[in-house]
Amino acid sequence: MDRISKLCSYLPRCKIFADVACDHGYVAKYMLKNGLCDSAVVSDISEKCLKKAEILLADYISANKCRAVCCDGLKQIGREVDCVLIAGIGGEEIIKILSEGFIPKSFVFQPMKNAGALRKFLLENDCFIGTDDIFTDGKKYYFIISGMKGMAQKYGKEQLLYGKDSLDNPVFYEYLSKELAKKKSYLLNKMSADSRRDLMRQIKQIEEVLKGEAGRNIR
Ligand SMILES: C[S@@+](CC[C@H](N)C(=O)[O-])C[C@H]1O[C@@H](n2cnc3c(N)ncnc32)[C@H](O)[C@@H]1O
Repeated sequence: MDRISKLCSYLPRCKIFADVACDHGYVAKYMLKNGLCDSAVVSDISEKCLKKAEILLADYISANKCRAVCCDGLKQIGREVDCVLIAGIGGEEIIKILSEGFIPKSFVFQPMKNAGALRKFLLENDCFIGTDDIFTDGKKYYFIISGMKGMAQKYGKEQLLYGKDSLDNPVFYEYLSKELAKKKSYLLNKMSADSRRDLMRQIKQIEEVLKGEAGRNIR
């Protein structure tokens, strides 16, 4: 399944759906077309990117079912939105958007990197993470984090690093085995002693998780 279809499958039915950093606008179209939201807001920091969504969603925009906003993160999005999707950008960028804006009532995030930092931020900010998994489109692997504001939750170290549901998902171990091979191949490169030490630490960490997986016996 392609990444966008997979993303759509994680979205809950809601009144007002917002796709922040929407680019093409495919997800809002899926939500509106399938009656999964009453109305939608699409936003992007780039006018050029937002234009693509405006063209795709023109019928919904003229029917007042969709609003397109050119802005940084959530800065011009009202708190009345029910569910916010932020996908395809880094975890640190998502944290910045939430810190400068607000944590939505319900959210779906698909960070391209630094998913661990995003989980930490959400848990420290009173969020409940419902789904915290990994999926693949057959080419790449993506972490997906969905949940809601307002219910404290505690995570262990590995859950924080990789996601609580990933640890029970065979796709995750496929991903981790590939990461291990990639990192081991980096050892052949020239690098500073500090970088090598850090790389060795990461390799050891992955090997420990993979060893734990053998104990879980899920493959
Ligand atoms: C790789 S695209 C992802 C598009 C779509 N969300 C997806 O998952 O396919 C990244 C988009 O994020 C937008 N973007 C990056 N930083 C942003 C920010 N702080 N606020 C709003 N949009 C942002 C970019 O302009 C670009 O259109």
